[in-house]
Amino acid sequence: MKIDNLTPAIGSEIHGINLADPDQVDRYADDLRTILAERQVIFFRDQVLSPDAQVRFAKVFGRVEPVSSTFPAHPENPHVELLVSQGTRTGTDIWHADLTWQKSPPAGACLYAVEVPETGGDTMWASMTAAFNSLAPAMQSYLRDLRAVHNWEAPALTDNLRKRDETGALYRAIREKYAPIEQPVILEHPVTGDPVTFVNALYTTHIRDVTSDESSALIAFLSGLAKVPEWQVRFRWRQGSVAVWDNIATQHYAVNDYHPEPRRMHRVAIR
Ligand SMILES: [Fe+2]
Repeated sequence: MKIDNLTPAIGSEIHGINLADPDQVDRYADDLRTILAERQVIFFRDQVLSPDAQVRFAKVFGRVEPVSSTFPAHPENPHVELLVSQGTRTGTDIWHADLTWQKSPPAGACLYAVEVPETGGDTMWASMTAAFNSLAPAMQSYLRDLRAVHNWEAPALTDNLRKRDETGALYRAIREKYAPIEQPVILEHPVTGDPVTFVNALYTTHIRDVTSDESSALIAFLSGLAKVPEWQVRFRWRQGSVAVWDNIATQHYAVNDYHPEPRRMHRVAIR
């Protein structure tokens, strides 16, 4: 196995492992977990993964559950989400971490490129531990006492959901199930113990116990930390590329520059 760090802060490409081979995956499982914890997102090229093989590989990093987001599930395996975009805005071209409106958001995800455009459709990740470390100590300690409200009902996502959901049944069911919840503004990472800024532009609606002007300013500042190039990595997909990321330590952004070309991805959420 060969590791190629893509930037100092975040992201490594890993060569020399066939993710569809259970023996290789078992042999390198400890190393892969360690590298992911340190590098926050890891990439592989030229893989061929059936839905079952992808789920088996994703289990290296944690538990997997049947799909619980607003995307449809793969007919062959209920743990695999189908991310298909063609000429539509999906709400993923906003910096975010996945499902931060759930009490325990996914620890990470494994994304496999099935069909990608000739150019465009890159994904970007930003290190939220690097973001926290960049803040002055006085700002860090101020933020540690704050809590923020996260809501799944982001306009960019619900517009898309409503288009697919003619009766509105799915929309109402999710709304019923997931009330807005509070999360700390600074989260301690469950694996590394590192502090992470945990506010994102897609799902964080307001900061508790401050005025609405203060809340707006804080959210703009904190969610804007994802936009700093020094804490980012940008990945150009090819068919067969795989990314595994830490959903707590990072935020991501799906660059929306390839429509009307199709892009099809398989995602497995890791708990
Ligand atoms: Fe996402």
